[in-house]
Amino acid sequence: MSITKESELIGMKKAGEAVALTLKAMRNHARPGMNTKELDDFGRELLMSFGAQSAPTLTYGFPGWTCISINHEIAHGIPSSRKMLREGDLVNIDVSAELNGYWADNGGSFVLGEDVHGHQKLVNTSKTILKKAINNIKGGVRIADVGNLIETEAKKAGYKVIKNLTGHGIGRSLHEAPTEIPNFRDRFNRHRFKKNSVVAVETFISTSSTLAYTGPDDWTLLGNRGGFVAQHEHTIMITDGQPLVFTEMNDTWK
Ligand code: CO
Ligand code: CO
Repeated sequence: MSITKESELIGMKKAGEAVALTLKAMRNHARPGMNTKELDDFGRELLMSFGAQSAPTLTYGFPGWTCISINHEIAHGIPSSRKMLREGDLVNIDVSAELNGYWADNGGSFVLGEDVHGHQKLVNTSKTILKKAINNIKGGVRIADVGNLIETEAKKAGYKVIKNLTGHGIGRSLHEAPTEIPNFRDRFNRHRFKKNSVVAVETFISTSSTLAYTGPDDWTLLGNRGGFVAQHEHTIMITDGQPLVFTEMNDTWK
């Protein structure tokens, strides 16, 4: 969406705050020994307390309120009482929701407890790249140039990117134009970021895989070459200068 009036700005701020505070609280609530259904139930309660509804449930009939993906799962992991969180797991929580007609999306990967498997560098790289990417977005910038920045930074740190998962426009629904904000320089993408428009920017930084495919449960995304992927996502409004980050309260950068 493009923000044209104060009421729309307020609507997006409230939706952004709801998903950001829910994501932050879920990350802090996660413990080894907890299953991902329990963590999702906790998130659902919070979203409901804001008066928000799960975006993937509303849009796609996703079987959960939030997406919780563990270790080799890249995204869209289904919360399940049979999926137990363990010390050192690479966990990704993605919270997107609708509140009073406004939609916001954010996500983040983190290491649960002690980093016994050495995932922290991947997580930190993804956070830093998201920050750098967002700091480089303003009205008129080519989407392909930001993709190039993400891929170049990932390579410098010894990683790859997932090419078929992207950021996207958002605001009045979960996915809007621009439909793709890729993590690489897509030379066929001639679109530019537009001032006052709302987009969700998300990293997919990977140790081995470059493509995601849908797993046997028809939801969970896995990598074509295995390994691990870290994702961090913010919903922002583009300006002439620094973007306004609606989901800053998730504390990704703290
Ligand atoms: Co998301
Ligand atoms: Co998204």
